[in-house]
Amino acid sequence: MAVNEQDVELIVKQILSQMGGISAPSAAASGGQAASGTIPKTARVAMLVEKERFEVKEFPIPEVGDDDILVKVEGCGVCGTDAHEFKRDPFGLIPVARGHEGTGEIVKMGKNVKKDSAGKDLHVGDKVVTCMIFKDDPDITMFDLNKQNIGQAEVYGLLPDDEYHLNGWFSDYIFIRGGSTVFNVSDLDLDSRILIEPSAVLVHAVERAKTTGILRFNSRVAVQGCGPIGLLCIAVLRTMGIENITAVDGNAQRLEFAKRLGANRTVNFNDHQGIEALTAAVEASFGGHLADFAFQCTGNPKAHANIYKFIRNGGGLCELGFFVNGGDATINPHFDLCSKEINLVGSWVYTLRDYGTTFDFLKRAKGIGLPVTELITHKFPLEQINEALRTNLAMTGLKIAILTPPGA
Ligand SMILES: NC(=O)c1ccc[n+]([C@@H]2O[C@H](COP(=O)([O-])OP(=O)(O)OC[C@H]3O[C@@H](n4cnc5c(N)ncnc54)[C@H](O)[C@@H]3O)[C@@H](O)[C@H]2O)c1
Ligand SMILES: [Zn+2]
Repeated sequence: MAVNEQDVELIVKQILSQMGGISAPSAAASGGQAASGTIPKTARVAMLVEKERFEVKEFPIPEVGDDDILVKVEGCGVCGTDAHEFKRDPFGLIPVARGHEGTGEIVKMGKNVKKDSAGKDLHVGDKVVTCMIFKDDPDITMFDLNKQNIGQAEVYGLLPDDEYHLNGWFSDYIFIRGGSTVFNVSDLDLDSRILIEPSAVLVHAVERAKTTGILRFNSRVAVQGCGPIGLLCIAVLRTMGIENITAVDGNAQRLEFAKRLGANRTVNFNDHQGIEALTAAVEASFGGHLADFAFQCTGNPKAHANIYKFIRNGGGLCELGFFVNGGDATINPHFDLCSKEINLVGSWVYTLRDYGTTFDFLKRAKGIGLPVTELITHKFPLEQINEALRTNLAMTGLKIAILTPPGA
């Protein structure tokens, strides 16, 4: 049966609203209302004005139209793509307001704003996130988002500056225009809300992995790379009931955290010289079996080449470590793919549907005691954003966040 775009949108909204959970009590009534007397005339926005330099600028807060939402920012995670942009501006976006892993509280909204993108009620006082949704479209290009998103959503923290300026979550206030994808996530704590966007990447990767038909509850799963992405991968797998997980990395501290997030065993590649020895260590971790399924969560081409060796004949692989071009990898198509009959999927970003699942993941992970929010190792105020970005680049922590101090 052919399904048109509007139908897809309706179906997705329906599913998301069923997944939605319970809304927290609102601070005020909805409908063109504002939190009384608390909104200043101007807002601070961290603008990347040149490579390696954000400047905190002051801009007037725009008039909130009938379809718009003004959000007071509470916090925003620093993404690898922010660090990439900070260092190199590869897409020539400067000047640009960054920050897409943000969350905050609605302080004012237009009279037409009644529901979020999942059909949940919206009120002043509710906590929200935006989403740069990707349609299930293999031809999608990163900077064509506005046109290709379901619902024609606006995208925040990624696109060049415009006349509103309040376009990124690295700011005091963000101006969410009508038609944007926005979710009411009042039932999640602040740190969990900051982790929604990166977690959605892993929910999507696991959904992609499931399409191979290989990933089962009792699968032996290897997760290679224990940065925030690999660690969240482990937490998503564990939360969905997969319990036989080996984490592979060269960083002992990250491997320890992998255990706390649900990995049963760890393999430190520094302890094993050569791919045969490393493969033997992975095999030993599964009691003498290779992995049924593996997730590649590093941006290292060598790691891509290595991971095929860890997988059994007929097993599966999800490659999600190359959000950007990290160079070519050398594999042997005969030994690594054909003769092993590997079921390979790639995974890039997420879809609108994955967002609803992600809210549930974060609640469930907390429910089973996984310390997911401890992924946020560093918190900086907005005025220290350059230091935050440098900390991200130094890779001394895991997730770095910009936080508005309480009461500010
Ligand atoms: N698919 C997507 O949509 C998507 C989204 C976000 C990020 N990513 C990608 O995911 C990757 C990981 O992101 P992150 O934030 O966790 O990065 P990160 O750099 O913090 O972590 C990468 C980890 O891989 C480890 N590593 C490096 N080489 C290795 C090897 N040969 N074997 C085992 N481990 C090795 C490092 O020690 C590090 O802990 C990045 O390359 C990023 O581009 C993809
Ligand atoms: Zn991100």
